[in-house]
Amino acid sequence: MQTKRSYIDGVHPEAELLKEGAEWLRAGELVAFPTETVYGLGANALDASACAKIFAAKGRPQDNPLIVHVCNRVMANLLVEGWTPAAELCVQHFWPGPLTLVMPKTANVLDIVTAGLPNVAIRMPSHPVALRLIEETGLPIAAPSANLSGKPSPTSGSHVWRDMKSKIPLILDAGACLVGLESTVLDLSGGIPTILRPGGISKEQLEAVLGEIQVDELLENQVPKAPGMKYRHYAPQGEMILMVGSSERVVQRMGQEIYKGHARLKKVGVLCTLESAPFLHNRLPDLLFVLGSKNRPEEVASNLFEGLRLCDERGMDIILAEGVEEGGLGTAIMNRLQKAAGRKIQYI
Ligand code: TXA
Ligand code: MG
Repeated sequence: MQTKRSYIDGVHPEAELLKEGAEWLRAGELVAFPTETVYGLGANALDASACAKIFAAKGRPQDNPLIVHVCNRVMANLLVEGWTPAAELCVQHFWPGPLTLVMPKTANVLDIVTAGLPNVAIRMPSHPVALRLIEETGLPIAAPSANLSGKPSPTSGSHVWRDMKSKIPLILDAGACLVGLESTVLDLSGGIPTILRPGGISKEQLEAVLGEIQVDELLENQVPKAPGMKYRHYAPQGEMILMVGSSERVVQRMGQEIYKGHARLKKVGVLCTLESAPFLHNRLPDLLFVLGSKNRPEEVASNLFEGLRLCDERGMDIILAEGVEEGGLGTAIMNRLQKAAGRKIQYI
């Protein structure tokens, strides 16, 4: 299939491009589009064969359900029942935005979308292209991140192009995504609201509005409530080591690891903060990518997946990544870094 990549204005999206996207979606085809978090791979959520194409294009396991994207409350009401006061507060404070709500589904929601689960995950994105595309289509849009399964989520049109070229008819490319990490997935289906995946809206932000919040800590061999969390996401090809500690010690340890790697004829890439970068240049890594300042986690979040992808493209055998402080957006950043590193975390 030939893929068309159309550049679209991220603030005032061109009407004819939105129309073209909507036509493909209504015809049961896939369209990749930007959201404020990462790019989504969209299909008509009410069309089972269109949704099946998502799983095929991504190579996604069938047991991993899809988030449904809506552009207004009426559309959300078609999909979800049992709006609780907590759900109302979330909508009021965080929609449109990077918060996905898991709630009991109505009969309108297809099994392929929820992977047979009784609840559906929905969110209203704030990116003008995403919102206007859903509006123009007039349908709820099922959309996972537009990456091949197991790769970092795409935060630019170029990332989508690399993963989805010749698999889908249209990519709407509005450049870089603002947040750069996926939405927070919050389970509101019963009891205390529970974070299933940390993301663009922090636990602290949710607590300020909802009061007590739980975090779903995945235990060994437990079936995760968000099935996607069991997969080793965001995994680069190279062996990744995540280092957590003071900047000084991280720099020193990275220097040693670069030396050791080179002795084994390995290519060593470094993902570090702006503060550590000046001390790492002269250790001669094969790639040095600055994620952003320690004091600006939103900067680190927006650059993280780009850095991981770059390490793969440049064939790094070993990737040394500097951790950030937990709390706020830092918790979501560390969640993604830990997943990418598997178990290889060094606390120093
Ligand atoms: O920011 C985002 O959320 C992006 C953009 C495109 O909206 N989407 C995204 O989708 O990250 P995806 O499919 O890559 O991740 C969705 C996560 C998975 O971990 C999945 O298991 C979980 O949400 N999820 C989806 N439906 C669920 C449900 N009904 N119950 C529990 N977890 C669900
Ligand atoms: Mg994903």
